[in-house]
Amino acid sequence: KPNLSVNVGGILMKNPVTTASGTFGFGPEYAPYLYLNRLGAIVVKGITLLPRTGNPTPRLAETPAGILNSIGLQNPGVERFISEALPFLANYDLPVIVNIAGDTVDDYALLAGKLSRAPGVAGLEVNISCPNVKKGGMQFGSDPAMAAEVTRAVKASTGLPVIVKLSPNVTSIVAVAEKVAEAGADALSMINTVLGMAIDIKKKRPVLGNVLGGLSGPAVKPVAVRVVWQVYQAVKLPIIGMGGITTAEDAIEFFLAGATAVAVGTANFINPRATMDVLKGIENYLHENGINEISELTGLAQKT
Ligand code: DOR
Repeated sequence: KPNLSVNVGGILMKNPVTTASGTFGFGPEYAPYLYLNRLGAIVVKGITLLPRTGNPTPRLAETPAGILNSIGLQNPGVERFISEALPFLANYDLPVIVNIAGDTVDDYALLAGKLSRAPGVAGLEVNISCPNVKKGGMQFGSDPAMAAEVTRAVKASTGLPVIVKLSPNVTSIVAVAEKVAEAGADALSMINTVLGMAIDIKKKRPVLGNVLGGLSGPAVKPVAVRVVWQVYQAVKLPIIGMGGITTAEDAIEFFLAGATAVAVGTANFINPRATMDVLKGIENYLHENGINEISELTGLAQKT
């Protein structure tokens, strides 16, 4: 049996398959469909200091190219997350990675502190890439200096491994990744959704209440593979790769480009067992190719 375990910046995962934030709730939503312990880790929906109701509806549009969302970080706030969601996940032997978002640098630091003191958090994913909020969000993720400032503030407030989630909606994702690495990030994840929009030609109005939204699904995969490839060359940090992963073959592309682990997102909506199908297919691929360790695949397409 091949060794599937990976170390993502200090987070030990028994296999390299995790969930993309916002596509897997806090876990209970998917527990009827799969044994959560089989995941390498769970990345939960983004958490803010205070509860948020999110953006005006409609907030989801299915297009032939993928799903557009403009949820706007709807979540119960960090206190209720700690008291209600974490106890459920404590029943599992599963690293819990908490995605955090804020309007200010202080918000991120406060969230990091609170979650570090809560039991059962394995790591933080710093969301500086949400396309659907006015303050924070992509503002932090598109300016390398601001991205570094958020990273430093979070690192100063926690001993937990810190993963920074990058946006594809930038001039140079490599420039952002380099600054975030310098600021002390333990790992990177990419990509968040691709900024887009859709127009209802009958109503002659934008489909989404928020007008703009984030595109996800198979259409964004080539963009995601490209940035994983570029960032892997520039920065020596483990990468969680995501963007349109539906099958194991998709996931293998990300490993070959430079990912240490992968996250399944939009595919969960269509097939709640997508993570399990991807995991099984990765195992088969390693077996068929005579590869003993998943880590041997990381960046292999870069080597000549
Ligand atoms: O596409 C996204 N939607 N990315 C995020 O980071 C947050 C989410 C939302 O809640 O709008």
